[in-house]
Amino acid sequence: MTEAERPDIIDVDDRVRAGSTSQIQDMPAYREHWARAEADPGGYWLAQAKQRVHWRKPPTRGLEGDFWSVRDSPIAWFGDGELNVSESCLDRHLERRGDKTAILWEGDEPSEVRKLSYSQLHAEVCRCANALAELGLKKGERAIIYMGMVPEAAIAMLACARLGAVHSVVFGGFSAEAVRDRVRDCGASIVITQDVGKRGGKNIPLKRTVDAALEGEHGVEKVLVYQRDAEAPAELVSMQDGRDLWWHDTVDKASETHEATTCGAEDPLFILYTSGSTGRPKGLVHTCAGYLTWTAYTHAVTFDLREDDVYACAADIGWVTGHSYIVYGPLCNGATSVIFESIPTYPDVDRYWDMVARHQITVFYTAPTAIRTLAAHGPEPVRKHDLSSLRVLGTVGEPIDPVAWQWYYEVVGQERCAVVDTWWQTETGGHCITPIAPATPEKPGSATLPLPGILPTLVDDDARALIGPGQGRLCLEHPWPGIARTVWGDHERYVSTYFTMFEGRYFTGDGCRRDADGYYWITGRVDDVLNVSGHRMGTAEFESALIAIDELAEAAVVGYPHPVKGQGVHAYVVLQPGSDDRAEAAKNAHRAVRASIGAHARIDRLQFVPGLPKTRSGKCMRRILRKIAEGEPDKLGDVSTLADPSVVEVIVRGAELFS
Ligand code: WTA
Repeated sequence: MTEAERPDIIDVDDRVRAGSTSQIQDMPAYREHWARAEADPGGYWLAQAKQRVHWRKPPTRGLEGDFWSVRDSPIAWFGDGELNVSESCLDRHLERRGDKTAILWEGDEPSEVRKLSYSQLHAEVCRCANALAELGLKKGERAIIYMGMVPEAAIAMLACARLGAVHSVVFGGFSAEAVRDRVRDCGASIVITQDVGKRGGKNIPLKRTVDAALEGEHGVEKVLVYQRDAEAPAELVSMQDGRDLWWHDTVDKASETHEATTCGAEDPLFILYTSGSTGRPKGLVHTCAGYLTWTAYTHAVTFDLREDDVYACAADIGWVTGHSYIVYGPLCNGATSVIFESIPTYPDVDRYWDMVARHQITVFYTAPTAIRTLAAHGPEPVRKHDLSSLRVLGTVGEPIDPVAWQWYYEVVGQERCAVVDTWWQTETGGHCITPIAPATPEKPGSATLPLPGILPTLVDDDARALIGPGQGRLCLEHPWPGIARTVWGDHERYVSTYFTMFEGRYFTGDGCRRDADGYYWITGRVDDVLNVSGHRMGTAEFESALIAIDELAEAAVVGYPHPVKGQGVHAYVVLQPGSDDRAEAAKNAHRAVRASIGAHARIDRLQFVPGLPKTRSGKCMRRILRKIAEGEPDKLGDVSTLADPSVVEVIVRGAELFS
């Protein structure tokens, strides 16, 4: 029997009627699915893709390509299929879920709530697609979306998808320089933004940042501006004649019918920039069908999605979590997805729980940083609210320590809810190693077991795969439908970043331990990527911002354990000969990082050092700096290869000031 003929592959709507949209309800089912996906990946995922995605032309092909030949032939899934992603997320739900709430928006102030049904969302997306087409956006062209957490951000994404255009959402905390880099790299012709964003009672000057980013840039012909606050201070919002258009003058007046463009399964859906060890952020490309299949499957399976769920992911749409688990996965599954504009501590530290109780949220998904921040305020703000609606709690973005896990489980989940610690990355498109809510026995601090389709391997320093328990670098062995296909405009960079370290394997950049039960414990990045409050940033990005200022000659940036943020940023800097004003240099250093990356990038410790520890061939030994920042100067290891070992002592003494 082929996968497609199996009797347990039932129509999505039958499963919905039965209560759950997941086929995996216990460990035997998990093992069975995992084994099937391993034995016949093409067949298993083809069957999933057919039932979870709405096709114009159903695919007959499963996987083409592998990790060995990825340089010459990119990975393809469902290659001969045709679809439009927005039809899977909207049109096909109209008949049965037209009046169901698709997006439940909670604004910065708790009193601001908006609900958009699937019919309303469909109409808005059609209007937006018509308006964007009118502005000249065509299939394959790129649009930058630089917005806050408003429904219009999701509408803009889906409208691009409807036209077959490629969106690149830039997190609203990024600076003008970072926006400009991304506009240039992807060659965007349109920017979609809003006047101001709202966060914790403050205005975020999104339009003003776009104006600064586009100064002197001629590639962007139109800027579409959603008006979030008609009373926003005038100095934050100036419109440029001929280039800038208000959303309410264009989108609101457009027709609410729109014929979606037919796309190939492997046409790009979006580009999302993410930080790596070296150089500027990379534009990872996700394609239509494989990404949608992966996000829909994982969203349903991990969270055990039910038809009447009120599902809330508190991430930002600007990161991959927002793409996969606020927009594409939930809407493809016909779920009610909450978009939350504010922060967990506004107007008070009980904001999340107040929101859970008011909307009767059943699945709640957030980052360990938020949990640690709220746990510091004790259980009272949680206990004030009736959280009996909750069934599944999720975390994402960084390792969660067992203490924070227990707090989430006991205080928030009242020992009743499953806690799913989901490990994945921008590159993987969706969850890879995670508990399945109804099935997997949890261990606090472990992401537990791989989903079907995911074959993890731990590799030691000699590139040997470990058998059984042990610790090593986490690689994944075989392509799954959601893996990013390339780096925009630079396929070689994609190959060299992910597939050359261990040939034939995808290298994640993470370290990981496997215990005797086969459970995975992510230990964090083993490369030069920082994870601060779940925000992924490259040390190289900090360093290039720092050495660009006049006062500094050299800089090396490393992470260190931080009790709330997960990691803090420690910058070692060397003054330029002749500069001796440390206060001025420090001020400019902070300013430079903010201007180059954004407000979310902050140096926690800035340490002036006489020199960096370098080998005789001039290579900076970051390992030593990392150990010093971590407060373990007694574990530096061999420093005899340094050109000037005495520099280490001075750095260690200086670092004591910080710990
Ligand atoms: C880290 C976010 C431990 C990891 C979805 C990964 C995690 C990086 C977890 C990707 C987790 C994500 N436990 N670490 N549950 N989830 N990470 O691309 O280091 O922003 O490589 O994707 O976050 O970050 P990214």
